[in-house]
Order: sequence, then structure tokens, then C-alpha cells
Amino acid sequence: MKQMLQELREVSVSAILNAPDSDALEALRIQYLGKKGELTKLLKQMGRLAEEERPAVGQLANQVRAEVEDAIASRRAALSERMLQARLAAETVDVTMPGTRAAIGHEHPMYVVLDEIKDIFIGMGFEILDGPEVEQSDYNFTKLNTDEGHPAREWSDTFYLTEDSSILLRTQTSPMQVRAMESKPLPIRMVAPGRVYRKDEVDATHSPMFHQIEGMVIDKGVTMADLKGTLDAVMKKLYGEDTVTRFRPHHFPFTEPSCEMDVQCHKCGGRGCPTCKGEGWIEILGAGMVHPKVLEGCGIDTEVYSGWAFGMGLERLAMRRFRISDLRLIFENDVRFLEQF
Ligand code: DAH
Repeated sequence: MKQMLQELREVSVSAILNAPDSDALEALRIQYLGKKGELTKLLKQMGRLAEEERPAVGQLANQVRAEVEDAIASRRAALSERMLQARLAAETVDVTMPGTRAAIGHEHPMYVVLDEIKDIFIGMGFEILDGPEVEQSDYNFTKLNTDEGHPAREWSDTFYLTEDSSILLRTQTSPMQVRAMESKPLPIRMVAPGRVYRKDEVDATHSPMFHQIEGMVIDKGVTMADLKGTLDAVMKKLYGEDTVTRFRPHHFPFTEPSCEMDVQCHKCGGRGCPTCKGEGWIEILGAGMVHPKVLEGCGIDTEVYSGWAFGMGLERLAMRRFRISDLRLIFENDVRFLEQF
């Protein structure tokens, strides 16, 4: 009996200490210590022993049970430590590995320029307005002193959306002048950037959709000197303090007097070169004193109030700012081009 116990101890402890995983270990525990386990079976045979042998065998049996239990506990601890190590190894993140960078884009060069211009005007106390691209002919033309029959209203130049020519894609941002005067309390200082549409063929300087920024000031005692001073200051902020501007007389139906503003060519300093087509100057915008008919049409008392306005092409401004030679590059959205800004 003693020998059987000792054999059981040897065989079971060795099996337990070599159990490959926790399932196998549990199976061994049941095999040796379970209700129908081998140790239990042996103990049931104690009854067959002589009276005087029992205490010693009993003691040995208890010792064997304790050792088997110890072996199980120590194997269990070893197995769980090994599992932890395996998990740590499998789930390790090598923080020194180069990551996969998500490609994030950046602002389109034209919007870089738009943001700069907005900042300049906001700094001067202007507010930024937004308005509809699908516009009424009334706002795009009539209320801007451009009556029926005016050449600018030709179907060949304008995307009309209705047979009766009452709705169109705005050809300029100038309708925002009227929308501002009709909806805002005076005085008004506003700029309104946005898309405009004309039936133009695509080439290096034309596109059927392009962007303009409209600007307008209405207040008491506003003169042409305010127009010139403000626009000159804006150009110096945008293009540098040494920028030279000039104003030429022009005609627009909704301003009187009207002018165009040029900036001296940055390439040749005014002597004339291919960039300025030999002119020495580059045309930047149209402007003028808001026509009394336009003011009165919006219910503004021209005895008290006057105003000036301007409209400029945003693509052209960006092309000058970043020395871009072809308008199409701005719309094609080729990342090889866009990434350069
Ligand atoms: N809307 C004109 C155009 O598209 C530009 C313009 C000229 C806007 C004079 C104005 C202005 O506000 O006063 O050619």
C-alpha cells in the first residue's frame, strides 16, 4: 500500500509538472484527486489494512495528496505565467516602426488667397456675406441699372435657366450689392465672395465658372477718395508694401463714375514684359461710386448716403499671388500642382 502510494506520487507529480496546458492539468487533477480519482480509490482500500498499519499509511496518503495539490498549484501558476508571456509577445506594438501616414490634403491655393483677402477686409471692419448662385435677372441686371436690351443680358453670354430669362446663373457677384442694401441696416461694409458663370470657352485665362469677390461700402460722406485709399491699402497688404496701383476711367452700368484698378507688373516693375503683355500694368478689378439709381432702387436716400463698390476675379488674384501661368491649373485639381502651395 505504501509503495502504491509512493508510485502514485511519483507518476502523478511528474505528469502534472509536464502538463502542456491548463486543460491537460485539469484532466490530471480529476484523474488523481477527483471523487473517483486514483488516490481516492487507494484510500478506499485502507479498510483492508491491519489496524496498526493504518496511521502511517494515512499520514503518507495525506502527504501524497498535499504534494499532488502543490504540484498542481505550481504548474497552474507556471502555465498562466507562460500564457501571459505569449500574449504579451503576440500583442506587442513596436512603437519605433514607421507608421502609415494618412494623406491629408490642404487648402486650395485660391482659397488661401481668399482667406488672406477676407482677413484684410475683416480687419477693416467689413463683414463677409454669402448669396445665391441661381439668381433672378432682376438682381443680376435690372436692379443694377442694366435694363432689358443691354448687351450684357445676351443669351449667348449668360446661362439662363428659364425661357422668359427671369432666372439665371449669376454672371457676377454684384447682385450681392442689392441683396445687402435690401436686407442690412446702414452703414454697410461688406465683401461677398462666390462663384459666377458665363458662357466662355475654356482657355488659359477663361472658364465658364470662376470666382469673384464683391465689396461695397455705403455710409454718409463716402467719396472716390475712400475707394482709392481702401483698395490701394488692400493691394499693399496682399502683395507687399511696395505695390503700386493706378486707377483708369471705365464704364459699368451700376457705378458712376466707374474705374478699373491696375497693379504695376511685379515681373518688370512697369517697363513691360510678357507677363503684363508689354503693358507694365495688370488689371485687377472694376470699381466705382454706386450709381444713384441703384441706391434709390434699394430705398436709400442719395442726399444723405453714398457708396463705393468693387468686383474682382479671384482666380486672377491667385494667379498673380502664386505666379500661376494657366487658369486651367486652378480647376484641374492635379495634386502634383496643388501640393506646391
Ligand atoms: N461686376 C463687374 C464684372 O463682373 C465688376 C465690377 C465693376 C464690380 C464695378 C463692381 C463695380 O462692384 O463697382 O465685371
